[in-house]
Amino acid sequence: MDLTQSAEWQSLKEHSTTIEKSHLNDLFRDDPARQERFTFRNQDLHIDFSKQRIVADTLGLLTDLARANNLEGRIEDLFSGKKVNSFESRPALHSALRLPNYRSLDVDGNDVVIDIHAQLSKMERLVERLHSAQARGYSGRPIRNVVHIGVGGSDLGPLMTNRALCDYPCPASHPLEVFFVSSMDGSQLSLLLRKLEPSETLFVIASKSFTTLDTLANAETAKDWIMERSNVEERMILQHHFVGISANPDKMTRFGIREDNQLLFWDWVGGRYSMWSCIGFPIALQIGMHRFRDLLAGAHCMDEHFRSAPLESNIPVLMALIGIWNINFLDIHAHAVLPYDGRLARLPAYLEQLEMESNGKHTTLDLKNVDYSTCPIIWGEIGPNAQHAFYQLLHQGTEKVMCDFIAPARRYNDFDDQKGSEILRKQHILALSNCFAQSRILAFGDHAISNKGEVPFYKRYHGNQPSTTILLDELTPFALGQLISLYEHKVFTQSVIWNINPFDQWGVELGKVMANETLAALNGDTTHSEQMDTSTLALIKQTLELQDV
Ligand code: F6P
Repeated sequence: MDLTQSAEWQSLKEHSTTIEKSHLNDLFRDDPARQERFTFRNQDLHIDFSKQRIVADTLGLLTDLARANNLEGRIEDLFSGKKVNSFESRPALHSALRLPNYRSLDVDGNDVVIDIHAQLSKMERLVERLHSAQARGYSGRPIRNVVHIGVGGSDLGPLMTNRALCDYPCPASHPLEVFFVSSMDGSQLSLLLRKLEPSETLFVIASKSFTTLDTLANAETAKDWIMERSNVEERMILQHHFVGISANPDKMTRFGIREDNQLLFWDWVGGRYSMWSCIGFPIALQIGMHRFRDLLAGAHCMDEHFRSAPLESNIPVLMALIGIWNINFLDIHAHAVLPYDGRLARLPAYLEQLEMESNGKHTTLDLKNVDYSTCPIIWGEIGPNAQHAFYQLLHQGTEKVMCDFIAPARRYNDFDDQKGSEILRKQHILALSNCFAQSRILAFGDHAISNKGEVPFYKRYHGNQPSTTILLDELTPFALGQLISLYEHKVFTQSVIWNINPFDQWGVELGKVMANETLAALNGDTTHSEQMDTSTLALIKQTLELQDV
């Protein structure tokens, strides 16, 4: 039966007519126990859903919807290696990347845990070589700079994590600096090449497919740059200055990366779910392999919870179902991610890809068009900075927006210099005070103010914007692992309800084909010009004219 025709969906529709009329002020007044009722804890995470526009019945109806759509069975399919990526006929086993080495998981007669740990060990050896200054460039000088070249899932995870865990530098005897390059136009690379010493620089080419033009263009530029600066033959440069990470070893070999310097992952790891594989190499370089393993352990801890907890207390499931409630029943189609910690600056961009590339779909698993909304628009920014940018819209605009507030409860507690800790801790508390204040105003509007007196109309805050607050005890590798895994499983759960495949991304393919045609046109080949619209043709013509100047 169609999702929207099911009894469970219809019950939620009916229930929403009551909740639509209630304000969060009413919900808090009517249920003094709602904070405890809707707050959950898992290891280092404390999650408060009480400022969502839900009552106890809402969660009951939502879990009924989940059961009716066989969520429990689908979770088991995900973990056990069934081909949940049905259109590409393969499993999605990012959770296997976090399995401890004493576990096993059979995929097509092969224990993938053995392969996973073999690659992690190979990565560890490379990390050790770099940390102990054994990895040397063409001139014999130790490598000091590592430039990670990748895009999308081959970039966003490590970039986000290295920023998030910047307080955990690896105590290696030989310090390394890790840089990230993703932009196709070469702007990030050109800035770096101005300051790096070629003989001390290693390039890591990270691409699941090893066919992504953005990444290959940057890789070629990097290679040309070292060759030009060194006057050393290509083979030598590739041997000493290039590491590859991919699911396509043949392509890495063809590029010229030697087998020793190839780190592998597999087609059953989705690009945007790959930071737990050797794509995490720059993370291990920055924080050390033991802490990278803590990150995996945190994610695994959330995996175990997601796989075994009853739906009623299963945090990723509840987070997903509350999202469904907001989107499909309360008609909210914008979602702001608001970390109150500068180290999480790249988290919104990471989640934009994770959520929108996974669930931004309109085709169901049985090849129909959905007649309900799927993934909302997700965007975000460091919360305190966003307060001075787009919070005006959250508080007084016309759009309904759901928000995730994310912050560590503790920070600067064991900073090296005791005095510095105290001063900085004040700033952390200041950020937290803003975090809690903002979610209050969003929920309760003017009612949050103690002595409000007469408020002119234009200064009024209506509130009733729902939010979830996620407090991490501390932003450790383990807690970050838990947090990211929480979002991954939320995305999967929503895809199950919406009956879509979260593990493919056909919506990005056409752009690649069209870009190639357009590239040909910009290079003077008119083969495809006849099919082109007048706007595009004029833009190409204008560009070619300006390039001639
Ligand atoms: O174009 C989208 C995409 O395929 C993402 O899904 C992926 O994370 C990114 O490109 C990079 O792909 P690759 O790792 O194969 O270079």
